[in-house]
Formats: sequence, structure tokens, C-alpha cells
Amino acid sequence: MTAITSLVNYEAEGDVGVITIDNPPVNALSAGVREGIKGGILTANEDNSVSSIVLVCDGRTFIAGADITEFGKPMTGPSLHEVIGAIEKSTKPVVAAIHGTALGGGLETALGCHYRVSSKTAKVGLPEVKLGILPGAGGTQRLPRVVGVPMALQMIASGAPIGAAKALEVGLVDEVIEGDLKQGAIAFAKKVVAEGRPLVKISDQDDKLQEAKDNPAIFDDFRKSIARKSRGFVAPENCIKAVEAAVELPFDEGLKRERELFIELMEGEQSFSQRYFFFSERLAAKIPDVPKDTPLLDINTCGIIGAGTMGGGIAMNFLQAGIPIIIVETEQDALDRGLALIEKNYAATVSKGRMSQDAMDKCMSLLTGTINLEDLSDVDIVIEAIFENMEVKKEIFQKLDAICKEGAILATNTSTLDIDEIGEATKRPESVIGLHFFSPANVMKLLEEVRTKKTSKTVMATCMALAKRIGKVPAMVGVCEGFVGNRILHRRTEQSADLLLEGAMPQDVDRVLFDFGLPMGPFAMADLAGNDVGWRIRQGKGATSAVADAICELGRFGQKTGSGYYLYKDGSRTPTPDPIVEDIIIKASKDAGIDRREISDDEILKRCVYPMVNEGAKLLEEGIATRASDIDVIWVYGYGWPIYRGGPMRYGDAVGLKNVYDTLVEYQKEHGDFFKPCALLVRLAKEGKTFQDA
Ligand code: 3HC
Repeated sequence: MTAITSLVNYEAEGDVGVITIDNPPVNALSAGVREGIKGGILTANEDNSVSSIVLVCDGRTFIAGADITEFGKPMTGPSLHEVIGAIEKSTKPVVAAIHGTALGGGLETALGCHYRVSSKTAKVGLPEVKLGILPGAGGTQRLPRVVGVPMALQMIASGAPIGAAKALEVGLVDEVIEGDLKQGAIAFAKKVVAEGRPLVKISDQDDKLQEAKDNPAIFDDFRKSIARKSRGFVAPENCIKAVEAAVELPFDEGLKRERELFIELMEGEQSFSQRYFFFSERLAAKIPDVPKDTPLLDINTCGIIGAGTMGGGIAMNFLQAGIPIIIVETEQDALDRGLALIEKNYAATVSKGRMSQDAMDKCMSLLTGTINLEDLSDVDIVIEAIFENMEVKKEIFQKLDAICKEGAILATNTSTLDIDEIGEATKRPESVIGLHFFSPANVMKLLEEVRTKKTSKTVMATCMALAKRIGKVPAMVGVCEGFVGNRILHRRTEQSADLLLEGAMPQDVDRVLFDFGLPMGPFAMADLAGNDVGWRIRQGKGATSAVADAICELGRFGQKTGSGYYLYKDGSRTPTPDPIVEDIIIKASKDAGIDRREISDDEILKRCVYPMVNEGAKLLEEGIATRASDIDVIWVYGYGWPIYRGGPMRYGDAVGLKNVYDTLVEYQKEHGDFFKPCALLVRLAKEGKTFQDA
């Protein structure tokens, strides 16, 4: 075996030259890998003992893409274009042997090869759009030449990978190998030589482009089809333009156009934020004071208390991950309704073609219901998901403490209560943790995990790993009112209520935040969630909110009652501004002695968002949040903050913390201490720093 570089080896196996990449964990195309592949191709072409070449990877996956950590840094070694060019020009056939995931630059490298074979479980895709860029090493030019324009558009603009079977069907791989991939690839390479098959250069092939040449409307139709999903993002449009170039221009010119469109995205703020978010998401899974090798508890069964919407949604995550669930209710009726709701949700997914009947049956077979808490004696983890009442929760946790086996994790889904206090109600506070799911719990990706002062490292490490197993993105935070996500949300809620009193209407505030990229504004969101929830909480605390209270007093609880801040005509979910609400707001301003004024969109945005940045900084100061990037993960996955703006903290950095600080100080003078910048924000603004270098 010859080491071409420290990351790439070459060895002749009989008359086949095998180039092996070994760059854990995902064989990213770092400079040493690019240099090694290029060198390996050269070596194999000069090696008279071999007549074909196999490109294969060690470890868990084929090349998963360019090395994202190199982006924005000076380029060293050959470019990926040069590497792929060298592969395509090889005078001996090159076969890519794909296992795991061939993604981005990894698939582009494979598309430079003359043939591709894969294992049965392999996946291939071009996910660059998710990083705010496009495939920049020929992917937008080669993929449509293999799979045709409609499918290439779909794959490139969505970033979703396809499995080996589909890849075989559409000609993206030439053979799916059963058994040992490397040996299968070597056998395939020998067959290519023995049968005198040609050196297939995808760049020379044009026939699959003909459909789009004959019908250029394909592109605009596609634009329309993704308009809603891609709202606010710039990368999907450049992806489409690059594929258009593949159809309209000769290959080499198409490559140049792809490059221009790629650089435009790479230099933009959106891609910066999306790449930042890629690493933030992975960083959030790591807890600084919990070592990587902390032993994990086995989680093979889970109990859920409460078969309401939340409990049912939580259960579905576990069932889909193959973990049996025992769901507990106090009354048989409520239990039956809860179980039926889960079944109905699955049936709806099956009828939309997003789940097979088999998969649904498997999930349902893992689900048991009971009205006896004692049935949880043997489960590995319990998640309590009942209404927010401290006394009731404490009583349940005391019972669980007596019923559950030693070492079982006792988790609560509370979004408001003090989990330290809940933990202290048991004799095992080290086993108590908050697992705060977001509604709808089977859809939203965030799992805000809340550690108490006593939660053990083993429990934390186990729950972080468990989150990944059930398809959630976890972030660990500390105990405080509202934890991280809702505490920040409350600042925005307070501001949006003030904006109404000062001169804005719900539709003004909602439009500004929707245009900013959020799925909906605070008032449309309140109508969706139900205005009565906040009203009851305020009543319990003796608090008031003039407009919100007046609306609730009229029974306008939101979509479910057909009206709230908006009118929902004839069961529609579309909010329509309502003159009755406008009258309520104008009266509330008058009662408060406020002269209403025109409020600009810019002010609405800053008044809603800058206090969120300030609150995030306070949470960092207090040690409730570990990193600014964790707060961003919570807001993107829990509240739909646009990923292309990275999260509220990244947005603060992008705007400049000095600007955020100056504006808050101005608002503080005008409106009071609600806006007072916290010490961390003051320091960073003065030092000209960002949250990233805090
Ligand atoms: N570059 C650098 N590091 C990468 C990487 C990449 N392309 N892909 C993953 N990593 C790192 C992760 O940051 C993580 O690091 P950590 O252990 O220090 O946190 C580690 O590899 C493992 O990653 P995951 O935790 O994500 O591992 P999984 O097994 O869950 O997932 C994966 C593996 C599906 C490959 C996933 O990592 C992934 O989707 N990677 C990104 C793929 C991608 O976007 N490729 C396109 C890159 S851009 C490109 O190719 C441009 C080209 O067109 C020119």
C-alpha cells in the first residue's frame, strides 16, 4: 500500500488500482483528500499493472462533501474541479464505490467517475442548498445530464438525498452491490475492462437535457412549485439558474456560470448564517461539563403520563424510533381518546403516502395504554406531560419515585414550572430532568432539555443521545421561568402588546415579522395557540394585558372560536383584520392615555427583535444557556426563526452588537428599563465583539 497523502492510500489489487480515502469522521474533501485523489489517479494511470481504478472510502461513509471548515479560508492544494477533471480524463475507467452517504462534493466526485456502484443502504444527494450554497463542483451541470432536469431540480433545490434503489432506477448508480462493496466494485471494474465498455464522461452527454430544451417552462413551473417552501431563501433560485445554464450552455460555459452563481451565494450573509447553523446544531449536542465518554443508560421502554395532544405527539417520536411506549391516563375515556388520536394521526400520514401501512402497524403494535401508574414499574424513562400545576406534578413524581425501578429517568415536559422543585419532591433528584417538547411534538425538531442543579451527568448524556435517536435536535439549558425559548418569546410578546397600544395593528406587527422570515407573527400565532391559555395564566398571577384581556372577555380565543385578534370566516384558517379588534385597540390606547402614532416597519422589527437579543445575552450571563449558538438552535427549531438568519443571536451579530446596544439605549430613554442592555451586551458592544467571540 502506498500513502499518496496522509489521508489517501493507493494499492494495486490484481489489475485494479484501488484508491482509498480515510479522513474520519465523514471523509470530507479536505486539501489532503483532494491532493490524494488527484495523485492516486495519476499513480494508477502510470501503474502498468492495472487497467482500471476503484475509488472507495474507509469508515462509515463515502465522501460526505467538501470540508465545510475550509470555507472562507485561503485555498490550499488542488481545487475540487481539478480533481474531478483528473478523474474524468483518466485513460483507465474509474469506478466510485459508494457506501453511507455520497453528498455534495462527494457525489460530484462520483459523477466525475466513469461508473458508480453502491451498497444497498447508500444514499446520494446534493445538500448544498441547506448550507445556503449550490453544488459548486459541476453537480448542477452533471446531475441533470444523468437523471434529467425535473429530478435534478428536485434534488438540487431541496437538498434531499435518494436511496440506492432509486439511484439505480434513474441511472445515477450502475450497480447495487450485495455483500462486500470494495470486492464488488473491483469485480465491476474488471467487467468494464473485459467487456470493453466505454469511459463514460457525463460532461459529454446531452440527451437527458432534451426534455427541458423542448419545454423551458419546466423551470418556471418548478419555481412556482417551491415558492412557498423557499420563501426568503436565495440559494434555491441560484440552484435553478445553474440547472438552466446546464440546458442552455455548452458544458464548460455552464461550469463557469455555476461558479459565478456559487460565489454569489458563498459571499452572502445567508450562506454564512446557514453554515454557522450547521455547526451550531452539532455543537448544541455537546455539554461542556459532561465528558464525551460518560456511560449511557439503556433506554428500551418509555412511559408517558398524559394522553393529550402533547403526550400523544411525544409518544409518536418514540414509536417511530422503535421504542415501546406505555401511555398513562387517569380515566379510560381519556385514554381511549388519546390512543385513537395517535392512530388517526398515523392514518392521515399513511393516506398522504408519507408512511407505509406496515410502518404504521409496527408503531401501533409498540403502543400500550393503561390507567394504572403502577404499570410504569419497569420502564427506563417516564415523561410526564400533563397540565401545568406544581402540586399535581409533585404528587405524580412522588408516586413515580415509589413505583419506578432504580435508575429510571423521571422527566417532565413542563414549559413553565421549577424543575428543581419537582426533583426535590423525589428521593432521586439526580434522575429528574426537563424534556421540553414543542408543539406539534411529533413534528417540531427541537428538544429543549432542562438540567436541574442535581441532574446527573449520566442522565444528561443519556437524554442527549436519546434525542438524536428519536430524531430531535437537543439543546441543554438550565432552570428559570420559561427556560430559554419561552423566556425570549415573552419579551417579544410584551413588545408586540405595547406596539398595539402605541399605534400599530396586529396585521402590521405580523406582516413585519412574517416578511422577516418567521412562519407567522405573534398575533396570528396567539390565535393559533389559543388566547385563553395566556388569559388564564394572567388571571392566576393577577396580571393584565389590556388588549389581550378585552379580546378574551369577548370569547375570542383564536382560530378555535372563529375569532381572536383576527376573524376566521367560515372555519377558514386565514386571518382577516377585524374592525372590532381595531376599535378595542384604539379604546385601550385612549384608556392608557397614549396618543397613537404611525410606527414604521423598521421600528416594529427592532422593538420586537432587539429585546430578544438582549434577553438571550442575559441568559448567557446567568449561565442558563451555555452558548449563543444554542439559543439560535432553540429559536430555529422551536419557533421557526428563519435559518438563513442563523437565529436571534447570530442576527444580533450580523446587525452589529453596537447597533443593537445603541438602539436599546435610545428605546430605554423613551420607554423605560425594559430595554436596558444587560452587562454582557454592554461589554461586547464596547469591545466591538460578537457573541461568537464572547
Ligand atoms: N465538512 C466538515 N465537517 C463535517 C462535514 C463536512 N462536509 N460533514 C460533517 N462534518 C462533521 C460534523 O461537524 C461533525 O463534527 P463533530 O463530531 O466535531 O461535531 C462530524 O463530522 C460528524 O457529523 P454528524 O454529527 O452530522 O454525523 P452524522 O452521522 O449524524 O451525519 C452526515 C453524517 C449525513 C454526513 C452529516 O454530517 C452531513 O449531512 N454532513 C454535511 C453534508 C453536506 O452538507 N455536504 C455538502 C458540503 S458542501 C459541498 O460539498 C460544496 C461542493 O459542492 C463544492
